[in-house]
Amino acid sequence: MDDTAQALIAAKRAAGYQAADMVQDGMILGLGTGSTVLYALERLSLRVREGLQVRGIPTSYQTARRAYEYGIPLTTLDEEPVPDLVIDGADQVDIRLNLIKGRGAALTREKCVAAAGLCLVIVIDEQKLVTTLSAPVPVEIIPFAIRPVMTRLESLGCIPVLRDGVKKDGPVITDNGNFIVDCGFDGVDNPKELETALAGIPGVVESGLFCCFTEKTTVIVGSKKKCKIITSADIVP
Ligand code: 5RP
Repeated sequence: MDDTAQALIAAKRAAGYQAADMVQDGMILGLGTGSTVLYALERLSLRVREGLQVRGIPTSYQTARRAYEYGIPLTTLDEEPVPDLVIDGADQVDIRLNLIKGRGAALTREKCVAAAGLCLVIVIDEQKLVTTLSAPVPVEIIPFAIRPVMTRLESLGCIPVLRDGVKKDGPVITDNGNFIVDCGFDGVDNPKELETALAGIPGVVESGLFCCFTEKTTVIVGSKKKCKIITSADIVP
């Protein structure tokens, strides 16, 4: 593994571990998805073995399976509709703490858990912090409506691409049984407006734009040295 890859792993681990260290005894946790969150789970598993009492609501099969392997007790939104703290990753974070999520196709459950939680802690590495969101925006769509939704997405000014599976022929099927379309925009100048427009298309389940949680969001930007913490108090008006 080269130095850049090692530095990236160190940054993700540092962010994940710091998020897990924010967890207090008795908390109900939202557990996001992705490689950075897995480091938070690794650290949480150690703390649970040391006596920390928590229960986590997983946002994907990946997270549920890993939490099970790590001995982290799980629960559901039915049992615990208001998690104390949600730990999740992101694909990009802008200077207003708007997020693009969904590379792992878990965006719908992630948004449900983020919306339900009292606090949202986002764990990223430095490369994901940007001035303007520019990554493709993942959108979860029910298969029944894929054709008309693609046309509507094009009319919003993007190039929509149906995401293909890896080690599976054909499209990715989400944990909810739907398709994912990645929408390449030429920069997202008004993420909130775009999130609303996407939500208004019949057949769209959710988009990977997360613009409504900025007030309760803390971003932990991992690096090899000290992690940087960003909250809504740091947003320049
Ligand atoms: C999954 C997600 C992930 O949280 C996001 O893609 C970040 O993943 P990673 O930490 O592996 O870079 O939104 O749907």
